[in-house]
Amino acid sequence: MIKKAVLPVAGFGTRFLPASKATPKEMLPIIDKPLVQYAVEEAINCGIKEIIFITSPEKHSIKKHFKTNKELELRLLNSGKEGMIEKLNPKKFSEIKFYYINQNEQNGLGHAVLQAESVIGNNSFAVLLPDDLFLSRKSCLEQLIDIYSQTKSSVIAVNEIDLKNIHKYGVIKPGKQNLGAIEIDDIVEKPLAKDAPSNMAVGGRYILNSTIFEHLKSTKSDKSGEIQLTDAIKSLLANEDIYAKVYEGEKFDCGSKEGFVHATISLALRDDSISEKIKKIIQDIV
Ligand code: UTP
Repeated sequence: MIKKAVLPVAGFGTRFLPASKATPKEMLPIIDKPLVQYAVEEAINCGIKEIIFITSPEKHSIKKHFKTNKELELRLLNSGKEGMIEKLNPKKFSEIKFYYINQNEQNGLGHAVLQAESVIGNNSFAVLLPDDLFLSRKSCLEQLIDIYSQTKSSVIAVNEIDLKNIHKYGVIKPGKQNLGAIEIDDIVEKPLAKDAPSNMAVGGRYILNSTIFEHLKSTKSDKSGEIQLTDAIKSLLANEDIYAKVYEGEKFDCGSKEGFVHATISLALRDDSISEKIKKIIQDIV
């Protein structure tokens, strides 16, 4: 099944400057856990065994975060806080192989995914954008894997959004419904509302067949100089069926300030150790 996941984390995170100047956007915490760890845990909980970060030399803190810190663990052990060790370095991480590949120039998401080709080989693989955080009973990636296991085709997470925001996303032209998913007829990157083929926007979770790499290599940069993953998927559509899954659950776009704050409030209200206090604080403010 799907054993490898690519996590592109090399972007500049300009919407979060100055916070993202020295701290990678993906390391910003929602409550007490960095965004990137939510995505890594989502992948591992779906049976992923290899995590491939597409990163940049500036972002060494991500590598540090997923390494054991023996000195800190010893300190916690000696001060009676051994319970914290599992939080710091969950046991399930020890079975995972982490790769760090530098994207030397930030030429867009498609270019970032292409850097993973040598590690992925001929396998189908997952892509998770850590700045999209999902809350759902069954994780978004697991919902995609369910479709993939029936179709053996690439699958993309989508949801219906307000047309006034459609220009920020990849957008699909839906075809017929099949096996609980939608066959994609076409896909376009960031269309104007008047040109959008639907209101179904791509979220940050994908299962892709390795055939995508050939299409990424022949995809030209767009006006902004970026190689878009959406454009390579559009090209792949000429050869293969690709499915969209309308995911169940909530998505927070934590690459935007409002999405980040929304995710923080939502998770705080679900955290038994602080939810009552946070509710009171919100009530007092409102
Ligand atoms: P975004 O466009 O949301 O991230 O890319 P960004 O470019 O870092 O943020 P802004 O728009 O300037 O605020 C989605 C994901 O793709 C990664 C980002 O790190 C993020 O996780 N990415 C983007 C790359 O790895 N390389 C790129 O060249 C571009």
